[in-house]
Amino acid sequence: QATVTIPEPKGFPLIGHVASIDKEFPLGSMTALADQCGEIYRLRFPGRTVVLVSTQALVNETCNEKRFKKAVKAALDEVRKGVHDGLFTARMGEENWGIAHRILMPAFGPLSIQGMFDDMHDVAAQLALKWARHGSNSPIMVTDDFTRLALDTLALCSMGYRFNSYYSPTLHPFIEAMGDFLTEAGTKGRRPPLPSIFFRAEDQKFDADIDVLRSTAREVLEARKAGGSDRHDLLAAMLKGVDSKTGKKMTDESIMDNLITFLIAGHETTSGLLSFAFYQLLKHPEAYRKAQQEVDDVVGQGTIRVEHLAKLPYISAVLRETLRLNATIPLFIVEPFEDTLLAGKYPVKAGETIVNLLAKSQVDPLVFGDSANEFKPERMLDEPFERLNREFPNAWKPFGNGMRGCIGRPFAWQESLLVMTMLLQNFNFVLQPNYIFGMKQTLTIKPKDMYMRAILRDELT
Ligand code: HEM
Repeated sequence: QATVTIPEPKGFPLIGHVASIDKEFPLGSMTALADQCGEIYRLRFPGRTVVLVSTQALVNETCNEKRFKKAVKAALDEVRKGVHDGLFTARMGEENWGIAHRILMPAFGPLSIQGMFDDMHDVAAQLALKWARHGSNSPIMVTDDFTRLALDTLALCSMGYRFNSYYSPTLHPFIEAMGDFLTEAGTKGRRPPLPSIFFRAEDQKFDADIDVLRSTAREVLEARKAGGSDRHDLLAAMLKGVDSKTGKKMTDESIMDNLITFLIAGHETTSGLLSFAFYQLLKHPEAYRKAQQEVDDVVGQGTIRVEHLAKLPYISAVLRETLRLNATIPLFIVEPFEDTLLAGKYPVKAGETIVNLLAKSQVDPLVFGDSANEFKPERMLDEPFERLNREFPNAWKPFGNGMRGCIGRPFAWQESLLVMTMLLQNFNFVLQPNYIFGMKQTLTIKPKDMYMRAILRDELT
């Protein structure tokens, strides 16, 4: 078969496609260009090119780990300055990734995650209490409160640390530093190629934020090493664990890298999922009713227990369908080991960045038909979901791929099911009238400026 040149949108000499990508919302430009150019296109930036793929078939091809590997570039490479070869930002082949991965896999296994249920419940109940006290007349800034929830839960479950975000009017300095660090990591990845002297203030602040993150992680680590805690959390697993392959333990530096990594990788992703899920339910009253009915049937008015969470097929389908339409990490990046042809015809060089554009591939009409862009949780119930994964592998990919896929998925899933259940059990929600849906992008995406009101259900009866 003859090779086919990968299409490119119109660009400019020298700067290529820099001006084609919106700085505030790059994802919007990327999907719009996919609508224009089709299943695959190439963008040129000073010093590098990027190939974007938008269909299930092409994403499925790049998920072959024999031909492609995770690429740590652009924003991810900036995050790496703070957390080095921690799990999320490690390059393929780095020894510390293997050691940490093998030690942590069991710690993220089902039993261990179930053991975190009480801590997750503790933080979720703080959120419910806050909303109940808030009263039904005050609008809730949805993503902010879910972000506090996700961060407090991660810090408590991974290292026994309480940020107490719901008890303090100002954010904990660690949280503030992390927010600024991540925003700047995203911005730096898209900076124009000027000498660093132009960005001295930004670079100093970036380094200072990294210092705050690392010194807090070090304090937590030292306190734990000093003894007196019998917690069985992720920190304990990292301190105790011995790698079966190398016989090595994790170094203090690697433990700190990964403690911070869990917070970075886990907080906006989970809070975005919960925010989008509520947005979708509020826009689809029939789905809302079914989800709430499931909670009433399975849990009733009593305390939610960990066993309940395995009996919520409809709410699981709501979460899956939400992540299909609004993957909170809307793309992930790989590169071929060797020069190769995509779809047997599009030439790509070894090391060239390939962006798997989930925001398009997960609404591929060849897979999801005419209703690809609609919210239909029924198609994500267990049986159709299994069929989908058999017939169209990698059509649903919000947790990334293979060995570099999300290690925190069972954690995120248990927390999201619990929070959805607790909130639907206790409240009815109303979306802010006239809300116009928009998205905000940092390293992840979330609904922009979304407010809703929470009305206690017994206020109604
Ligand atoms: C990796 C998504 C929650 C920890 C990833 C990747 C994706 C992802 C797409 C692959 C990134 C890449 O290929 O570059 C999500 C989503 C979540 C979520 C959508 C919530 C809905 C969490 C949580 C944690 C976590 C709660 C921690 C407790 C990680 C780590 C990695 C990762 C450590 C790197 C794994 C490795 O390469 O070894 N996640 N994540 N994630 N995630 Fe998650």
